[in-house]
Amino acid sequence: MADQKGRVAGKVALVTGAASGLGAETARRLAREGASVLLTDLSVDAGEAVANGILDAGGQATFIAHDVVSESDWARVVAEAVDRFGGLHVLVNNAGVSGGPLELMSHTLEDWRRVLSVNLDGVFLGLRHGGPAIAAAGGGSVINLSSILGKVGMPGAAAYCASKGAVLMLTKAAALEWAAANIRVNSVHPGFIDTPMVSGALHAAENGNEMRAMIISRHALGRLGAPREIADAIVFLASDESSFMTGSELVVDGGYTAQ
Ligand SMILES: NC(=O)c1ccc[n+]([C@@H]2O[C@H](COP(=O)([O-])OP(=O)(O)OC[C@H]3O[C@@H](n4cnc5c(N)ncnc54)[C@H](O)[C@@H]3O)[C@@H](O)[C@H]2O)c1
Repeated sequence: MADQKGRVAGKVALVTGAASGLGAETARRLAREGASVLLTDLSVDAGEAVANGILDAGGQATFIAHDVVSESDWARVVAEAVDRFGGLHVLVNNAGVSGGPLELMSHTLEDWRRVLSVNLDGVFLGLRHGGPAIAAAGGGSVINLSSILGKVGMPGAAAYCASKGAVLMLTKAAALEWAAANIRVNSVHPGFIDTPMVSGALHAAENGNEMRAMIISRHALGRLGAPREIADAIVFLASDESSFMTGSELVVDGGYTAQ
């Protein structure tokens, strides 16, 4: 049941990239804490399955197909949130792509643009279309998924690092512009989390097992993170518990960047 005493009870949340990994877990946890959740993704069957799981558990959810690089899709999705649930209070700009392990010298301009377009343009369009709706609802919270790789570099991930570093600064600029409208904007910086994005990249690599061990060893806690550990941070930022936080970088990385 949607809990009226939940940490985000009565709020309407839009989560992009909600068919998989962090987005799916975030949608489930927001719904469990009382939000009505609009899930969006390119991946229709998987997205509908996550929304149906939330409905079966007694939560409020609906799924819409959405490409975050399409401006017309954004207009449709935000209108749907307002029509169906009566407004928009929380936007989680989560959809993203890794771009695969790719050496800088073998990046084509097309590879570069694909990663920047989903990971950065997608967040910009989310702000541009979601912002006015959140302002119209009296304010709310935007959470942008950056990464530890928006704060520290990694070989083979130049476009991804560039996109996530840009999301960090886009977040701060938006936070300053929108504070007067009572819209908080924060970024979340996960370490390596056990999701299809990470398992897919490790599976595709020739030395996947070795890479996995190397990545784990860089987290002081000695393991990958679980999706729940990021979703909990996002629920905190979505809720009024974080009411004095805006423009901040919430690092959830098992100690990766502490060393
Ligand atoms: N898993 C990690 O270790 C990790 C670490 C730091 C940051 N992140 C970030 O967290 C976010 C979620 O990652 P994840 O690990 O859950 O990945 P994932 O691959 O499991 O899920 C990403 C989802 O985004 C969707 N998506 C991709 N392009 C899209 C587009 N153009 N429009 C709409 N949806 C699109 C995919 O269909 C997929 O369902 C990403 O922004 C990622 O960069 C992940």
